[in-house]
Amino acid sequence: MKDIVFVTGGAGFIGSNFVLSWIGSVGSPVVNLDLLTYAGNPASLYPLNDDSRHSLVRGDVCDADLVGALLREHRPRAIVHFAAESHVDRSIAAPDAFIRTNVQGTFTLLEQAKAYWTKLNETERQAFRFLHVSTDEVYGTLGPEDAAFTETTPYAPNSPYAASKAASDHLVRAYHHTFGLPVLTTNCSNNYGPLQFPEKLIPLIILNALEGKPLPVYGDGGNVRDWLFVEDHCCALRTVLERGRPGETYNIGGNSERRNIDVVTSICDLVDEMRPGAVPGSRRSLMAFVKDRPGHDRRYAINAEKIADELGWRPAEPFESGLRRTVRWYLDHMDWVDNVRTGGYRNWIQQNYAERVAL
Ligand code: NAD
Ligand code: TYD
Repeated sequence: MKDIVFVTGGAGFIGSNFVLSWIGSVGSPVVNLDLLTYAGNPASLYPLNDDSRHSLVRGDVCDADLVGALLREHRPRAIVHFAAESHVDRSIAAPDAFIRTNVQGTFTLLEQAKAYWTKLNETERQAFRFLHVSTDEVYGTLGPEDAAFTETTPYAPNSPYAASKAASDHLVRAYHHTFGLPVLTTNCSNNYGPLQFPEKLIPLIILNALEGKPLPVYGDGGNVRDWLFVEDHCCALRTVLERGRPGETYNIGGNSERRNIDVVTSICDLVDEMRPGAVPGSRRSLMAFVKDRPGHDRRYAINAEKIADELGWRPAEPFESGLRRTVRWYLDHMDWVDNVRTGGYRNWIQQNYAERVAL
């Protein structure tokens, strides 16, 4: 076994932030398996273009032969599994890819990890870790007064995306219980920060506000998400990988519950401040309440006491400064934005918003 981490989905939003920060802080090599779907962008990893510690392999996590061969060739000490279809609206429009990648892909990775791990010597088997990156959406939705999700909250996924992630979590759990595979599962809240594909709320609103386009707010805008800065999340993942107890799950949150409408108005104000004058009046005038998402979860909130008490991790970035940094990043990286906004992106925006007429 070598001091190498095998990452899946490391060209996506959280994965690329993780790979960049891993090379920057820990510094040991990363093998990055990514199918480079619409959500995977090698451009996000450009600082590592000439860095021999990073190798990007274009391939499918559902390809058992490829995954097995890569594990045998590189002999990693850990697997960090990000690869997934991750957008709820897409899972409503076309769920098939979610079942394939999130369920079948995780199963394939577990099978290949088990085969690899079984052949390690006793010391290596003890040290090996399989870290599965999951979501708070597996717990379903909260009412305004409900206590935040803990690791023992019953699963109640409401979207095809959440159901596919819940299925993958169950498989990961079973491979520990049945085979002893040293797994760790993390369930985190909504991430935001640099390098997020602009189909998700925060980057979509930043770019539309910048370009003077309507800002689509689903339903009444009162849905609440618990925003986690992606750098904080990556730090939490490194902590869980190094100190988490195999078989355990850890909730990771930002202690930053915000209503969507408040997130959108904050972005309007930041873009007004950083790019004044481009739109007459305030960008707030661009807000448009549109048809709601079917089955839209009202509120997510994470109780992150377990990871704080056991492992000493806490989120460091307050939402207001994290949002400011994020808006600044998008404004300064329009080349990245242009690169990821391909024909496929434009088709999705047309499909998702064409029928969402303003209410
Ligand atoms: P993302 O959609 O930005 O990136 C997913 C990556 O996986 C892309 O690079 C894509 O090319 C790759 N991929 C997709 N299918 C693949 C396949 N079959 N084989 C190999 N690679 C494949 O997602 P993200 O936002 O970075 O999320 C990463 C993980 O974190 C996911 O598992 C997601 O469920 C979880 N998560 C995300 C959030 C969030 O707010 N973004 C919150 C909670 C949990
Ligand atoms: P999103 O970023 O898609 O993440 P998730 O659905 O995983 O929480 O959406 C965040 C919130 O913003 C969610 O309540 C849906 C809402 N939303 C809008 O109001 N308008 C939009 O255009 C999008 C994409 C999301």
